[in-house]
Amino acid sequence: MKDVMGGTEGEARRLVVTGAGSGIGRATAVAAASLGWDVIGLDLTAGEGGSGAPVTFPCDITDERSVHDAFEWIDTAWEGRAPHALVHCAGVYRFKPATETTAAEWDSVVNINARGSLLVSAAAARRMTGAEGGSVVLLSSIAAVRGDAAEPSAAYSASKGAVVSLARQLAVEWGPSGVRVNVVAPGVIDTPMTTVSGTPEVFEEVLRRIPARRLGTAEEVARVCLFLASEQSAYVSGTVISVDGGQSAS
Ligand SMILES: NC(=O)c1ccc[n+]([C@@H]2O[C@H](COP(=O)([O-])OP(=O)(O)OC[C@H]3O[C@@H](n4cnc5c(N)ncnc54)[C@H](O)[C@@H]3O)[C@@H](O)[C@H]2O)c1
Repeated sequence: MKDVMGGTEGEARRLVVTGAGSGIGRATAVAAASLGWDVIGLDLTAGEGGSGAPVTFPCDITDERSVHDAFEWIDTAWEGRAPHALVHCAGVYRFKPATETTAAEWDSVVNINARGSLLVSAAAARRMTGAEGGSVVLLSSIAAVRGDAAEPSAAYSASKGAVVSLARQLAVEWGPSGVRVNVVAPGVIDTPMTTVSGTPEVFEEVLRRIPARRLGTAEEVARVCLFLASEQSAYVSGTVISVDGGQSAS
């Protein structure tokens, strides 16, 4: 028998969050823990850190061995029980004119955002299939569907478009095994990632493009991630939910 948040009655829902040391990942891990979920956070460095980050194990998502070791550690921590859900928030944002972007810069961004999504999702899904099934939530971006003149970001935009295509494929591939795959596509969210590019001129231009006329918060994105990670969304798979204050509609 399942409770409303999807764990078997009497046991906490088990959630793996990547990028748990900062921003949206951190907010997701904190919100899930406050719901009583059993949360394991992954990020480049583990520990409480200066931000009080709920990271329990170090993992470089671009590195197959590192992802393998992290999930082996998770197997031990949860005594062989599979995660119910993965919310994959680890990622990087870089912007630079396309004509100046080097192959190495492209590879770095695409490897972290796209290859990392495959490696982490596959590690989770291998455990979910044959267990109770599960839910995988990947993070794309408004950059997947809107070009940006102020902050040209060819590699980032392409990497986030790849995340959407990847999620659709995985939803079809893993659906028969009970694994759902969905995407959250944030607009401009107030996290450490955004302050990297926060000059006053850019900020004014950014606000003009958002119908809500404000940035989103990491908590607002986290709530949607947890909806998709929970059994509240049991019949939702292969879809993209924008959390962007209406920006992608404008
Ligand atoms: N903040 C925004 O405005 C925004 C907008 C659209 C999409 N997103 C997406 O949401 C996700 C979370 O963004 P955020 O704003 O919380 O960013 P953030 O910079 O606050 O956090 C990202 C986290 O990912 C981790 N990370 C980076 N490379 C890693 C690697 N190789 N292995 C493991 N961890 C790694 C970082 O250490 C960091 O803790 C990202 O995928 C981002 O592209 C964010």
